[in-house]
Amino acid sequence: MKGLMIKELIESKGNFISGQEMSRRYNISRAAVWKYIKKLKEEGYEIKSVNNKGYCLISEPDRLETAYLDFKKEWKIGRKYIYLEEVDSTNEYAKKIANNRPDGTIVLAEDQTKGKGRLGRSWCSGDKEGIWMSFILKPDIMTSDAMLVTQIAAASVVKGLNDALDCNAKIKWPNDIVLGNKKVCGILTELSGEIESLNYIILGIGINVNQDMETFSDELKKKATSLKHYLGKHVSRKEILLSVIENLNLHYNDFLKNHSLADTIDICRNYSATLSKEVKIIHNGEERQGKAIDLTDQGGLIIEDQEGKTFEIISGEVSVRGLYDYLD
Ligand code: BTN
Repeated sequence: MKGLMIKELIESKGNFISGQEMSRRYNISRAAVWKYIKKLKEEGYEIKSVNNKGYCLISEPDRLETAYLDFKKEWKIGRKYIYLEEVDSTNEYAKKIANNRPDGTIVLAEDQTKGKGRLGRSWCSGDKEGIWMSFILKPDIMTSDAMLVTQIAAASVVKGLNDALDCNAKIKWPNDIVLGNKKVCGILTELSGEIESLNYIILGIGINVNQDMETFSDELKKKATSLKHYLGKHVSRKEILLSVIENLNLHYNDFLKNHSLADTIDICRNYSATLSKEVKIIHNGEERQGKAIDLTDQGGLIIEDQEGKTFEIISGEVSVRGLYDYLD
């Protein structure tokens, strides 16, 4: 109800809507309309009320609560949108409810108190500073193919950011998005299932949007950036969210319907911050060095070592010369 009211106020673009009209349309009392308006004002919506004219929206707060109103009807990802003011971690929350929710459910929180990164690290995710979200996905694929979803996510975020902001974002294989030489987004894919049957995937995406550098610890300052810091201006989180979800729908559908990763891998190649670079990896327990030369059609990274021999890695931590985590 609150969402519909906001949609109507937004769509009337600065014109007044009468309380009577709203009460008729939503079949609620005038007092109930007034209560909803009061709640919206408390949440930061600036709404002008004038006797005999009604209500007019002056400005919206930076909240993602009603972002789903702009989702396209045909989008499978986003058909269910769970919005939380605060949660420990959207990945953990999504895991708890995954069995009873459809493929394509989004869990988004304004603030995470215990955001999770890969390899047991924590993820700094302050109130309304970024986009902290997890997707519950239930594709009909083998568990061993679940990590392909990470490539779909990386391609969708990089394309989503570049479409919306033309900011030259790139992918550090396999699942970091970088601006310049620092990380702006991380992806954490978790799954539940047996070897043969996949139960669900939780795809967590964290995008640093409007943080000032002081928000980051000294250690993080060396590695992380935000869209605001890189571009030198405040960025609309809603615009980024819509652009990323639009791309995710496109590439996820292509994968489900046509079993195709072709466009995804093309994007991963074209926007790679890893290819043609010197890399270091831990492979089978030993550190190896080489040059990243290509991606396979399934998103594996092909590396040429110093003797000219090539080998492929399909997961793992890679450090890339010139980027934040290259270890000299
Ligand atoms: C990484 O690069 O280490 C992965 C970071 C993933 C962070 C996101 S924020 C939304 C979702 N919920 C979490 O707790 N983590 C992921």
